[in-house]
Amino acid sequence: MKFYSVALSALAVASVALADLNPIVVKGNAFFDSVTGDRFYIKGVDYQPPDANGETTDPLMDYDVCSRDVPYIKALGMNTIRVYHVDNAADHSACMQLLQDNGLYVLLDVATADVAISRDYPMYSYNYVLLQHNFATIDAFSNYSNVLGFVAANEVVNAVNTTDTATVLKAVIRDMKKYIAMQSPRTIPVGYCAADVAENRYQLAHYLDCGDASERAEFFGLNDYSWCGASSYTVSGYNQKVANFNNYSIPLFFSEYGCNIVEPREFTEVQAIYSSQMIPVFSGGLVYEYIQEANNYGLVQVSSDLKNVTPLVDYYNLQYQFNHTQIPSGDGGYHANNNASDCPAYVQGLWEANNTLPPMPSQASQYLTAGAGTPLGTDGPSNQWVPSSVLSSVGVTATGSPSSSATSTASFTNSTSSGSASSTASAAASRSAAVANVLRYGSGLNSFVVPAVVVSVSFALGLVAF
Ligand SMILES: *[C@@H]1O[C@H](CO)[C@@H](O)[C@H](O)[C@H]1NC(C)=O
Ligand SMILES: *[C@@H]1O[C@H](CO)[C@@H](O)[C@H](O)[C@H]1NC(C)=O
Ligand SMILES: *[C@@H]1O[C@H](CO)[C@@H](O)[C@H](O)[C@H]1NC(C)=O
Ligand SMILES: *[C@@H]1O[C@H](CO)[C@@H](O)[C@H](O)[C@H]1NC(C)=O
Ligand SMILES: *[C@@H]1O[C@H](CO)[C@@H](O)[C@H](O)[C@H]1NC(C)=O
Ligand SMILES: *[C@@H]1O[C@H](CO)[C@@H](O)[C@H](O)[C@H]1NC(C)=O
Ligand SMILES: *[C@@H]1O[C@H](CO)[C@@H](O)[C@H](O)[C@H]1NC(C)=O
Repeated sequence: MKFYSVALSALAVASVALADLNPIVVKGNAFFDSVTGDRFYIKGVDYQPPDANGETTDPLMDYDVCSRDVPYIKALGMNTIRVYHVDNAADHSACMQLLQDNGLYVLLDVATADVAISRDYPMYSYNYVLLQHNFATIDAFSNYSNVLGFVAANEVVNAVNTTDTATVLKAVIRDMKKYIAMQSPRTIPVGYCAADVAENRYQLAHYLDCGDASERAEFFGLNDYSWCGASSYTVSGYNQKVANFNNYSIPLFFSEYGCNIVEPREFTEVQAIYSSQMIPVFSGGLVYEYIQEANNYGLVQVSSDLKNVTPLVDYYNLQYQFNHTQIPSGDGGYHANNNASDCPAYVQGLWEANNTLPPMPSQASQYLTAGAGTPLGTDGPSNQWVPSSVLSSVGVTATGSPSSSATSTASFTNSTSSGSASSTASAAASRSAAVANVLRYGSGLNSFVVPAVVVSVSFALGLVAF
């Protein structure tokens, strides 16, 4: 690992390279330091600072951004950040080293605005473009010892009518685990961060923890906003979650917490999360979120030139709680030998995931042995491809025509039908389909454009696909 001299800042930050952090491993339902053997509790913040235009960006490729923020995150008493979006073609070495030097692990989401599991057409989105992207992101980060885990998706199951996405989610987790086993220098856990959907919260959790070991998730994050204001262990319902997850076999934590219905936030839940009541079942959590945005969950305000941050009252309140929270020593009473869950039963309209996963798309299998190849970054093709016949059946006309002969074979299954489709995919086709999806569903995907980029992207796609 390289040495970096760190810009001096208002707060002290390590200015020489220290030893890299020890990798964290999963044992039973908990995380452990692989060298010291100590239990590892996530003390984290969710970190997604937008760029100057308010757009999603990769904060780990910009040293000005991460070096601005790391001292403040460290001073909170944190040991982990969660990053929702990275450009897998960028150089992250400077920021990753700064995080190493300041004791910070990274929980990394692999989805981007263009490449993610689709809620509308989950099976069509399960294609080699998606897997090449996810695998190349693993390649870009697996050398860093402070990568805590990869998040295969965030909140794709967000209601009772999107549970079929869980089938694809679990297939993607399986594929990422397989890729890591074959291509990564060390085992890095792969898991999911869930929306707190009351109707099927436990079905989803059990589904990701059931079946063959090769298919099971290695951690489960819950985005949970149930503790609001001066709540309590019982009023928040934390006690119910501890009871209901008592048998869960993999690490569980809050991947987002920090309800802001009552402001300023006092963060009294910190005392509960790291208490002897919860740590046998939960392994800490991450506060949503570091930077103040329009949704008003921020801990710090960033200046308009993006050069400085100013802590808000919530920042000091959170710091106060961590200053006054002593995590019990020892292993916290973790459960070393809980059995995997039973797979939840199919219930129409409530839980429709399939316990038999689709096979990996045949074109993606080669990545397992040959590697994912060139990372395509955020200019690569979108995986949000749907055959035009399917789009036209819902009244959408896909424009643009395939400009490369890359072929994608996707088998699909849903509650109404199953079968398989083999079609010609290309960057142009997938982008026009994605545009059509945006038109049809307003699904919040970023805008896609410029034909010139599409042409070069098709070429790059050809390189990795064959
Ligand atoms: C699920 O239901 C919501 C609310 O009725 C709707 O807006 C959404 O489009 C549905 N999603 C799918 C994938 O059917
Ligand atoms: C289910 O599959 C059919 C194609 O057989 C498709 O028309 C329909 O949109 C699919 N439904 C979902 C929710 O993916
Ligand atoms: C990771 O390490 C391997 C072996 O040293 C090297 O070939 C590869 O380029 C490194 N990857 C990155 C993204 O630095
Ligand atoms: C946990 O497992 C035990 C033993 O198998 C069982 O009796 C109990 O009902 C389970 N609890 C939950 C909440 O699933
Ligand atoms: C937390 O502790 C640090 C280190 O002792 C101190 O600098 C900081 O002011 C404390 N914060 C609060 C809000 O008490
Ligand atoms: C796990 O399953 C085995 C075999 O069914 C059973 O003997 C054991 O008691 C279970 N362990 C727990 C902790 O429930
Ligand atoms: C589950 O997937 C299998 C294999 O892909 C398929 O044969 C089966 O029909 C699917 N079941 C449901 C309920 O969709």
